Amino acid sequence: MLKSILITGANAGLGKESARQMAMQTGIEKIYLGCRNEEKARIAKQELEQVTGKDIFEIIKIDISDLDSVRAAVKSLKEPVEGLVMNAGGTGGKKFLEKTKDGVTQIFAVNLLGHAALTNELLKAKKLTKVALYAGSEAARGVKEMGMKRPELRTSSVDEFSSICEGTLFGNTKDATVPYGPIKYMAALWMSSIAREYPDIRFITMSPGATTGTEGFNTLSPVKQYVMKGMMKVMLMIGKVHKLEVGAQRFVEGLLNESYQSGVFYASKKGLTGAIGIQSELFSDLSNEQFQDNAKNAIHRFIKA
Ligand SMILES: NC(=O)c1ccc[n+]([C@@H]2O[C@H](COP(=O)([O-])OP(=O)(O)OC[C@H]3O[C@@H](n4cnc5c(N)ncnc54)[C@H](OP(=O)(O)O)[C@@H]3O)[C@@H](O)[C@H]2O)c1
Repeated sequence: MLKSILITGANAGLGKESARQMAMQTGIEKIYLGCRNEEKARIAKQELEQVTGKDIFEIIKIDISDLDSVRAAVKSLKEPVEGLVMNAGGTGGKKFLEKTKDGVTQIFAVNLLGHAALTNELLKAKKLTKVALYAGSEAARGVKEMGMKRPELRTSSVDEFSSICEGTLFGNTKDATVPYGPIKYMAALWMSSIAREYPDIRFITMSPGATTGTEGFNTLSPVKQYVMKGMMKVMLMIGKVHKLEVGAQRFVEGLLNESYQSGVFYASKKGLTGAIGIQSELFSDLSNEQFQDNAKNAIHRFIKA
């Protein structure tokens, strides 16, 4: 049971559906909707109140790709939260390799840097008390079905992980799925590292699995969008992907079911849907503690204050 949670990217897709499902759980008293766009946040809050019949949602303004906004959001939080869902993310917009003022690519900022800073700030302020869940992806261990290779690093040193943060590892690629997998891989490593640092809090990386009905492909190029959305439709018909409710259910499970162990990355055992399994059994680099710490130390090069 959790009394309060903060969900980033809560106005659409998996974030909003997780907010709906969590609102139906016994004992929940407050759900903070972490959103960057106030108008979208207001509409989502109204919809959630209507479908759940509950008046427990509060908007927290946060642009996860901007560290100043992240810090301001933590300050604005009046009381600690028991749970955190680091859900905002995706392909990083049309200029996904462009640098933010914090020195990392847009796609890195929204998927990882902002969440690492958010977690740090919450912990420093003693505003996170029980569980943190990161929205991982099977892309972190490669997905043959989607043509995504397993991340292959040469040394897994702090410098090499920094090249993922800055985007230099990816040349001038026009394909956001190229940096996406390595960033989600690095996020799972970071989660395992902080899980060892803070043993009193459960840190779970959970992939929602391939989930239809979200807005995740909307910022890809029109051609890529067409291909990906078409592929998802076919895959839903043949049972290779699942609906929004199923993807969000994985987050709720990870948050509430304490048999999911801290520091572990869970995702589909096979492919992109179906039973959940421990991903280090498929890709042993995920359990390498040196890689985990190097990933965390690379992230900290960019979180200055
Ligand atoms: N769908 C899948 O199949 C799948 C599979 C594996 C992993 N995931 C992961 O699951 C998470 C959610 O994906 P989704 O498919 O539900 O995506 P989505 O429908 O595109 O929703 C993304 C949410 O994140 C918000 N967001 C984006 N950039 C933000 C920023 N800078 N600051 C604050 N909020 C921001 C969006 O807000 P705006 O409306 O303002 O843009 C939106 O509310 C992502 O981390 C994704 O990588 C998804």
